Amino acid sequence: MEKNNETPHILLVEDSAMIRKYFQKVLAPLHMNISEAADGLIALHMIKDNHFDLIITDIDMPNLDGIELCQQLKKKPETRSIPIIMVSSLDSDDDIDRGFQAGASVYLSKTDVQERLCLAVEDVLSKTDQRKKQHILVVDDSQIIRTIVENGLSQAGFQVITAEHGRDALNKIQGKKPDLILSDIAMPIMDGFALCREIQEHDTFRLSPFVVMSTNSERGHMKRMLEIGAAAYIVKPFNIDQLVFLIEKILSDHFMLLLKEKERLDFERSAMLSSITSLNTALEARDAYTRGHSEAVARIITGMIQLTGESDQDIESVIIGGQLHDIGKIGVRDSVLLKPGKLTDNEYHQIKKHPSIGRGILESIPSLSNVIDIVYHHHERFDGNGYPENLKGSQIPLWARITAVADTYHALTSDRPYRQGMPRQKAFQILSDIKGTQLCPDCVELFFKWIKA
Ligand SMILES: [Fe+2]
Repeated sequence: MEKNNETPHILLVEDSAMIRKYFQKVLAPLHMNISEAADGLIALHMIKDNHFDLIITDIDMPNLDGIELCQQLKKKPETRSIPIIMVSSLDSDDDIDRGFQAGASVYLSKTDVQERLCLAVEDVLSKTDQRKKQHILVVDDSQIIRTIVENGLSQAGFQVITAEHGRDALNKIQGKKPDLILSDIAMPIMDGFALCREIQEHDTFRLSPFVVMSTNSERGHMKRMLEIGAAAYIVKPFNIDQLVFLIEKILSDHFMLLLKEKERLDFERSAMLSSITSLNTALEARDAYTRGHSEAVARIITGMIQLTGESDQDIESVIIGGQLHDIGKIGVRDSVLLKPGKLTDNEYHQIKKHPSIGRGILESIPSLSNVIDIVYHHHERFDGNGYPENLKGSQIPLWARITAVADTYHALTSDRPYRQGMPRQKAFQILSDIKGTQLCPDCVELFFKWIKA
């Protein structure tokens, strides 16, 4: 029953040929692959040999009715996650309850088909698709509970990982972040409290909602769990449908929350970046000789960092860091910044303030926090004689050490009002001479590797 193409395959189970034809017409705008079965028994045979993404079934049919068909499919692990839409002329509350109890995802009255069937099909298929990608970690020392919950969640279409206790859970999710964790409290080796605490301290896992399932319904117990980071608390024994409903709700709220937070951060980042870029442009407009310097440094350090296998996100930060490394010079007076001759001690002191001024500008933007290291520390020296903190060796953040190499190289090879830029080979020689004193030796080597690449 392998899935063999991307067009969803629907099985339409209905004893009336006329109604099947009508349903085909209603579903035609969706351009899906639709097969037909005249009753539940024929449907079961077809499901055995073919992959179906969705079943739309009538209830009242000869041989095997829609309720029995649904029950049989939900019993078998290989078919229990196929979503089922029941469409029937029986539409009393009892009929609808029976349909949902048998495992239907949607129950429609035949009179609503024209208006609602297409929407229901699209909605069910999109939810099923989403759930197939969602992993739920179920942690409980009871084999029976694990099996019941695993069956219920798999039936609803989720991917389930099970673990017997907290330690087992942590081992099983290494390298794979679960979308939600559902955990008992009282367990051997590592209980739910300890697991929840470890999860909250973990950089990646803490973003997964932690749901507690426990026989303990004491208020204090619940409060304690919620205080250490649990998103919800469900008391055992529970109805599995309620649990699935709760999980769906938490995942959907959580998804919306993450989406909103991402939108907010993206907006904040791009708004702040555009104002900082304007500041940078203003800075470079003051000094024709350093125009293009920031872009050149950004280009060099990006090339170097790419050789170290950093993530795309880090590379993006490095580009920004390179572009903004001298942003603090915006706070240095023209008479000092643009002075063509030798600087006095006091003037040099003014220039040396630019990393701190730069840090002050960027500090208010949380999404640029990892760029501050470059801005604040790019004038530290490997031997500890740099500024502003006199950091030494590996105390200097790596990105700042890399920036120092690129900054020095570009300064040596660029024209200044008081001297011509030197040839590349001479600059290479100087970099080699000052590695270990001014510059980090590994970073100078990385620079040469980039030059040769
Ligand atoms: Fe600088």
